[in-house]
Formats: sequence, structure tokens, C-alpha cells
Amino acid sequence: MTELLTQVVSLVTHGDIMVATVDNPPVNALSHSVRAGLRDAISALESSDAVRALILVCDGKTFFAGADIREFGKPMREPLLGEVIARLDACTKPIVAAIHGTALGGGLEVALACSYRVAVASARFGLPEVKLGILPGAGGSLRLPRLIGVETALTMISEGKHIGAAEAAHNGLVDAIVESDLTDGALGFARRIIDAGGGIRRASELPIPSFDPALFGAARASLRKRFRGYVAPQKAVDLVEMAVAIPFAEASEREYETCRELLGSPQSKALRHLFAAEREALKIDGLSADAAPRDIRKVAVVGPGTMGRGIAACYLDAGLSVVLIGRSDESLGKAKGAIARIYESALKRGSLSAEEMESRLSRLTLTQFYDDLADVDLAVEAVTEQHDVKAEVFRKLDAALRDDAIIVTNTSFLDIEELASASRRPWNVAGMHFFNPAHVMKLVENVRASHSAPDVLATITALARRLGKTPVMVGRSEGFVANRMLSKRTREAQFLLEEGASPAQIDRVLSGFGFPIGPFALADLAGMDIMAAARAARRPRMSDREKSCNIVDRLVAAGRLGQKTGAGYYRYDEKRMASPDPGTDEILEAHRRDRGIAPREISDDEILERCLYAMINEAAKILEEGAAARPGDIDVIWTSGFGFPPYLGGPMFHADQIGIRTIKEALDRYSALVGREYFQPAPLIERLAAERKGFYG
Ligand code: CAA
Repeated sequence: MTELLTQVVSLVTHGDIMVATVDNPPVNALSHSVRAGLRDAISALESSDAVRALILVCDGKTFFAGADIREFGKPMREPLLGEVIARLDACTKPIVAAIHGTALGGGLEVALACSYRVAVASARFGLPEVKLGILPGAGGSLRLPRLIGVETALTMISEGKHIGAAEAAHNGLVDAIVESDLTDGALGFARRIIDAGGGIRRASELPIPSFDPALFGAARASLRKRFRGYVAPQKAVDLVEMAVAIPFAEASEREYETCRELLGSPQSKALRHLFAAEREALKIDGLSADAAPRDIRKVAVVGPGTMGRGIAACYLDAGLSVVLIGRSDESLGKAKGAIARIYESALKRGSLSAEEMESRLSRLTLTQFYDDLADVDLAVEAVTEQHDVKAEVFRKLDAALRDDAIIVTNTSFLDIEELASASRRPWNVAGMHFFNPAHVMKLVENVRASHSAPDVLATITALARRLGKTPVMVGRSEGFVANRMLSKRTREAQFLLEEGASPAQIDRVLSGFGFPIGPFALADLAGMDIMAAARAARRPRMSDREKSCNIVDRLVAAGRLGQKTGAGYYRYDEKRMASPDPGTDEILEAHRRDRGIAPREISDDEILERCLYAMINEAAKILEEGAAARPGDIDVIWTSGFGFPPYLGGPMFHADQIGIRTIKEALDRYSALVGREYFQPAPLIERLAAERKGFYG
């Protein structure tokens, strides 16, 4: 007979073994009703003389995915997770965690406090708290090192790295892999334990395995480089170092305190905001639940250039078939070679097997003929960024594709509305704007045109997810969201340069803020010719000052194309190490002389404010125009696409922390200094400042 302990936890007794089943969709987070149900299940086990073991299993897609993030920041109702875990640990009869899906955070901590863990082969395990700016608070950093060794545990805790069931079985985290039905397998396992007279096992009582104490220093140094600016990874090392040095009970209290402290930290708030914003971004405005994604199996990519190759690789990686279409055997051959090189380097790094590489390349076909596209489900237009060239490709695709096939354009700046309306199938047209290198960059700006059908929007969202990308739906707007905001930062960086700042100073300020690389080092990496071409494309829409601020063109004229020519804004040695270059100073001085600009000392604060607030002001206009549906979408775009530090939550979240009034006052100041056409506060900023509100209310 099934007994309902709480709304989400039920109990069934099979002879002398009880099974507690949790069903708390979507991810069996450890909400209050789950914690209460688990406590009651342990009580039922302890109070029954007939029952000798308990199995914990979850319905739905996963084992507990952790604490309920929606409860963070609110008063917690008892029993707290720590209490449930202490009860599991103290229980005098064996408890078996039966795991499928992902056992994460508090979910893994529950499993660690059980005597035994069995799992299906596809299960994954992790303590990803660090990604939310916190650390395990219920014994994870104490039990995991005891079970699997200090070094592996430290990596999992400080990087939030997941491991699979095979590795977990190998390192002792999992006791058995279940091939059959999970509950049946767990019952069989528990039966064998009982019959063999096996009793309880407590990870809390295991000795600390031996380890090299130098590993903490090495981890700190490596994490400092890889997670620059993040607080929690460094604290994770302190925590594990402490956890293995002092008695369990004392360490347990200190672990809880550390977690509580971090939960209130600005970084954790920002990272938790982003976790929610990324999921919110998948909910497309005006899309009803019946807009089901279409089935996409075969894709055409038109244009074998840098973007086309990267995009083709994304689809191949996700298991789809790709027809790459180009204008000559030579360009197609080069593209295939470049894609093969991506896979060869993955093979060398050990992240791809030889069979998988072969399978991916076997799904790639090359053609010069649109007639070969009759059976594709979706075509990606990724040709040169010129309206006439793209319009011609659209015409050819229209003629060659099935009527129900979708066309997506990868345009960065052109008007998708115009391209769509010239097509025979405007309802089957949308944008999927990838970023270079497409097979690496997570962000995809999906673009809705006014006629895009709801199921086309659902399809491109699902497709981008299938490619492992972070899709955000945006609307019509020149440069969409990411590039439109970036162009304002680029403009200010150039103006600051001609007013007297150096590339090194501006790069230092912006990378000190948290961007992975400064704008000038990035320009040198991308190539000054690329920057000059982007500038030429924007020229018709530039102000007089922007046109005259032609430092990029001067660098190109001097043959300084960036890293590839050994000099750009910086000079590069054979190891591509950058150093400031007197040659650049001369070019800048000549530019200032020609423009009649007397250089001045510019403070770091001014640099940061002008670069950042110009972007935020533009974002406010984007929101007002509806080109982004909500501020969270902009935060996701900038953190996943352009390196805005996630621990600051994205430009909109960060703006609220600064205060919109403060930003408005600075915009007024820079309007007077630089010009109203550049810094006039957006009406939304004026309104929010007057109402003393933020983008998030
Ligand atoms: N609490 C509450 N809701 C959660 C959640 C959690 N821990 N994890 C996921 N969800 C919600 C999501 O917000 C989403 O909700 P909507 O449908 O309303 O948008 C829904 O569950 C599905 O999530 P995903 O879209 O992410 O689904 P997925 O299948 O792609 O991934 C997952 C599933 C791997 C579990 C992923 O959701 C995930 O990584 N979750 C976070 C896990 C985590 O960080 N756990 C640690 C929490 S902190 C902790 O546990 C320590 C402590 O005690 C303080």
C-alpha cells in the first residue's frame, strides 16, 4: 500500500524494504515538502521493527537537482536540509540512494549521507554550487573528499564539474550501476546487502585519504587564472583545506556558515539572477504552448567562409546532416579542410574520438548546386554581409527548397524584414545570428521577423539548444542587441583614444572591470582589416566625429593589421606577447594633431563610465523599442556572448546595482563633455531615474 508522506513524497513497503519515492517536478528540487517527506520516511524506517532498509528514488527526469533555488533569500521552513542530512547520517539502518538523471548540489549531499548509492549508467553527479556563487552547505565538502579522494573532490567542488556514472563507480562514489529498472535494481541491491549482513556505512566516519598538501596552492593559482574575479572558487579551496584538517562536526558548522555568507554575497545574487534569466530567455513572448518545434534532420549552410564553416561544424557536432553550398570546388575544399582541422585538434586534445570525427565528417556533403537542397529541412544563409548578395541567395533558396523548409539568415546588421518580405515564404524566415568562432561561442541571437511563424520561432529556439548554444530571441534592430551595444563601447574607446588615453590604459580598465580581454587587444586579435571593414559598413550611419576618428584606417594604412602582422595597437614578439608600441603613439599623436585635439589626462573612472554607460544607455533604447523582450535577455546576451563578467549579473543587473540615478547623472555629465548626440539619457533611463526604480523594478 502506498502511503503519502507529503504531497510529493510517497512510501511503499516491499516486505522488509521501504521505498520512498519523490515526485517534485520539474527537477525534484529539495523544497520544503520534499525535506519534510524525507524526514518522515526516515522516521518510518526507524520506527518499524519489520523494515530493515530504505530506498530513496525520484520520479520524473532526475534525482534531486539540489536545493530549491526559488526558496533562496526567503525564510527557510524546517526541517532544513542540514537536519535531514544529519538524520540520514545518524540512521541505524541502511539507506540506498537510487540515482538517475543528475544528482546535484544538495541532491548529491543527500546521496552522500546515505549508506549506499546505486545509479543508472547515464546518471551524472556534481556539486555545482560554485556556479551560483555559493558552496556546499550540508556536508558535501566533508563527505566527498572522504569518499573519492581530496584532489578529485576539490576539482568537483571548486569548478562545479560534473562526473558520469562510470567515473563515479570507479572512484567509489557509486556502489553499483543498475542495468535494469532503477527501483528494481535498488531493491535487489538492498536485498543483497541485508542478506549478507551488511549494515550501515557512514562517509562521515571514513578517514581522510592521503593527499599532497601542495595541491591547495596549485588549485588556488590555477583557479585564479581560469575564474578571474570569482570569489567562490577560491573559497572552495579554503573550505576543502579546512574540511580535511579538522574534526567532522566542527568542519560541518564552518561549512554551513561559509555557504550562508556566500548566499548573501553580491556575486551569488548576480549568478542566481543569470541562472533564472537564462531559463526565462527560452520563454518566447507571444508563443503559445501548441507552437511545437519542427523536426530538423538535414540542414543546408550557404557560404563556406569563416562563419559558414563554424556553423556547419555546430550542426555536425549535434548529429545533423549538413550540405555545405559554395561557388567553387576550391572554396568548398578549403572549408572542409578547416572543419576537419577543428576535429583534428579536438582529437589531439582527447575531447573527440576518431570514430566520432569520422561520423561527423561523413554527414557533411559539399555542393555548388542549389538543386541538391530539395530534401533539407532548414537552410542557413551565411554569405557576405551585403544586401544584394544575400537577397540573391534567398531567391535561389526559395526556388530550390521544399515549401515548408525554413530559411535562417546569419546577418549581423542587415534588415531581416526586407530579406523575409522578398521571399515566397516570409512565415518560414527568421534569423540565427552566430558569433565567431561559431563552433565555440555559446550565444546565438535568434531573430524574429514580423511574419515568422510561431512554430518557426519554437524550432530555432529548440535547434539552438540542441546545438548546445544559449539562444536569446531578439527583434528587428540594426546590429540586433550584442553588436548594437558593442558599437557604442567601441565608439567611446576610440574617442577616448583620440582625447588622450592609451590603448593599454583603456584595456587595463576594461579587463580590470572583468572583461576577459580589452577592446584593443581584441581588435589586434581579430585583425585591423576586419575592424576597418566593419567601420566602412557602418560609415553611412556615422556622425562626423566618428568618421573623422579614423585611427583604425591609419593603422591599416601603416600595415599594422594586428597580431598577424606583428603590430597593431600593440607590438607582438614571436610568442605573440603584447607590449606598448611607440609606433602606435606616433600614429595617435599625428591623428590628434590633424584633428586639433590637445590630449588630456583621462581618469580610469571616466574610461569605465563612458564605455559602460554608453552600452547601458543603448540597451535602454533597445528595451524601449522592444528589440529585446526583457532586461534579463540583454544580461544573458552579454554574459554568454561578449564576456561581461557573469558575477556582475550582466549590464542591466549591474546598472541596477550602480543605481539608475547615478548613471543618469553621469550620462548628463558626459552629454556636456562629449556631446548630447552620444550621451543623451534614453527616455527609459530618465523615467526610471525619476521614479527611483531599476530595470528590474
Ligand atoms: N531549484 C529550483 N528550480 C530549479 C532548480 C533548482 N535547483 N534547477 C532547475 N530548476 C528549474 C529551472 O528553473 C527550470 O524552470 P522553468 O521550467 O520554470 O524555467 C526547470 O527546473 C528545468 O530546468 P532546466 O531548463 O535547467 O532543465 P534541464 O533539463 O536543461 O537541466 C538541470 C536540468 C541539469 C537539473 C539544471 O536545471 C541544473 O543544472 N539545475 C541547477 C542545479 C544546481 O545548481 N543545484 C545546486 C543548487 S544549490 C544547492 O543545492 C546547495 C545548497 O544546498 C544550498
